[in-house]
Amino acid sequence: MKQFNTFNYKNEVNYWYDCIDKHGEDVYSYGPKYYVGLVIKKIMPFLKLPPTEKICMLGTHNCYSFALLEEFYGKDRCIGFDLKNPTNRSNIIEGSILDLNIDLIPPLSFCWNDLGNYKRNPFEKMYGQIVFANRIINGGVFIGRDSSNRARFPAEALMSEFNYKNETLQNFFIKNNISFDGIDESLLRSHLISFREI
Ligand SMILES: C[S@@+](CC[C@H](N)C(=O)[O-])C[C@H]1O[C@@H](n2cnc3c(N)ncnc32)[C@H](O)[C@@H]1O
Repeated sequence: MKQFNTFNYKNEVNYWYDCIDKHGEDVYSYGPKYYVGLVIKKIMPFLKLPPTEKICMLGTHNCYSFALLEEFYGKDRCIGFDLKNPTNRSNIIEGSILDLNIDLIPPLSFCWNDLGNYKRNPFEKMYGQIVFANRIINGGVFIGRDSSNRARFPAEALMSEFNYKNETLQNFFIKNNISFDGIDESLLRSHLISFREI
């Protein structure tokens, strides 16, 4: 029987960095047109985050989106996690998320879970969601896929249990009068923005 959490580091690095042509056109090679960066750019001015704790991205790849967080919040405040650190940043922790000593995760004001995807690495993706959602402080914000993900992971229920109020990114855009221009609305409908109220 195929094990749910089989993970081969070398294969995964190869898939994420050397086989991008197999990931579909809609990821735009994880460059400036990839939806995560486009969304981040639009929402950052509207997020009311706790002022000092870290701003985190799970899955940084070539850092196009992570660089936007650094520009807006300052490099010292940002922290990223990925299998690789091709841009050699000192604020990125390299390795599989499962091997991370969780005591080293700082308190967080913000986190986006873009760690692989629910089809390829459901165990690692869920693990990241559970562990990092638990490090967000009161008033902080977490963004990730909703429960329609391919692993059927009940993201909404988990976030509610962790004392978050959930809404879709689409709703957040509408409430704040942010234009959908250039963004696939179905992606906004299938992502939760969750606000922690402990
Ligand atoms: C969709 S890409 C991230 C794109 C990036 N957020 C951006 O906006 O440009 C997913 C990333 O997750 C990383 N990843 C996959 N499995 C991982 C794991 N087990 N631990 C850490 N990172 C992982 C991959 O190396 C890849 O860079």
